[in-house]
Amino acid sequence: MNNRVVNALAAASLSALLVAGFGGMAGAADPADMVKERQQTMKKLGGGMGAVAKFVKNEGGTQEDAAKGAEAVLAVAKMDAKAVFPTGTAVGVGDSAAKPELWQNWSAAEEKWKAMQPAAMKLAEAIKGGDRAQIGQALGATSKTCGGCHEDFRVKKQ
Ligand code: HEC
Repeated sequence: MNNRVVNALAAASLSALLVAGFGGMAGAADPADMVKERQQTMKKLGGGMGAVAKFVKNEGGTQEDAAKGAEAVLAVAKMDAKAVFPTGTAVGVGDSAAKPELWQNWSAAEEKWKAMQPAAMKLAEAIKGGDRAQIGQALGATSKTCGGCHEDFRVKKQ
């Protein structure tokens, strides 16, 4: 290889590195993106709960759909609260509806996040049993864990 080719290759790989580096940084560090990501995560919870509710109310959802819904809730509940609520993503960033109090009372918020897990596990168990009344009860209990956090730490949308 002559020198020109070597230099060209070096320049190409350097710029590839820079692009990858900046791209990665922008993806991880843009607070507005982190807000969007959290809202997507929350939507998974909403979707999972909705699938279970459909079955409970006999509105066309199958038991299998309900089981998948509970699984989705459980999977999100197992996420680290710190990953869902990175600092610097409170109200004012993007269209965040997360109150600053969530971070000011972090241990309470984290506890509320963790409380979803046992509730979602019971919900999954109840779904296996197939009894709509019992599933409905477990769904209500799980929903309380959502509401408990929203009540304190989420800005009410108009
Ligand atoms: C530890 C606190 C906490 C828990 C537990 C929690 N949420 Fe949330 N949720 C929030 C906060 C804060 C927001 C506002 C997020 C934002 O706008 O960045 C939110 C927003 C949402 C949204 C709106 C998302 C959007 O598109 O803007 C939905 C839907 C939602 N949550 C569903 C649920 C469900 C269902 C559960 C329970 C299975 C749950 N959440 C549990 C704190 C919580």
